[in-house]
Amino acid sequence: MKLIFASSNKNKFIEVKKIIPKNIKLGNLIELNFFEEIPEKEDNIEGNAIFKANYINSKFNVNVFADDTGLEVQALDGKPGVHSARYAGNECNSEKNITKLLKELKNIKNRKARFKTIIALVLNKKSYQFEGIINGEILLSKKGKNGFGYDPIFKPDGYQKSFAELSIDVKNKISHRALAINKLIDFIKKVKS
Ligand code: IMP
Repeated sequence: MKLIFASSNKNKFIEVKKIIPKNIKLGNLIELNFFEEIPEKEDNIEGNAIFKANYINSKFNVNVFADDTGLEVQALDGKPGVHSARYAGNECNSEKNITKLLKELKNIKNRKARFKTIIALVLNKKSYQFEGIINGEILLSKKGKNGFGYDPIFKPDGYQKSFAELSIDVKNKISHRALAINKLIDFIKKVKS
């Protein structure tokens, strides 16, 4: 079976490719000659993931899945959430997003946060969604060089290191994205058997 992963984020692609079993052939947007940014206009993570998967399915008529992820911080009422990518404004990047988040949390004791991923799958014209959540806390400063996005300031519960200090293999055992992808893999196994 072949599935397109509708993401232009190289880090996400590397993580997902390491989890997906060899009997599922993972395709990307480049092989479809698709280089646009798919708009993320919905006000929730589910909506964005579904929109991205539907967008590629309707354009190319392929089986496809898309991921949308948000970092939800308890003391900020779930922010940045669906706005995680552009938290520091339109011209932002991970560096600026992290700086803004650490500033917002200055002097705040409750550092509890969670990553939530929704994977939306369009398989043979039908839609499915899979959720992955990991709880943790926001560190006082950046730690580690691995990973991407908010990884340097997120410490998963039960670990003493940030996601960016953990190896990709460890992150892939516990992360929000890995949990959602593993649900997708289980689903595909059932459909095929
Ligand atoms: P999106 O799912 O690509 O829209 O990601 C939303 C924001 O969350 C972006 O700023 C990403 O860099 C960040 N992000 C997504 N997944 C992860 C992750 O696994 N670790 C850290 N940051 C992430």
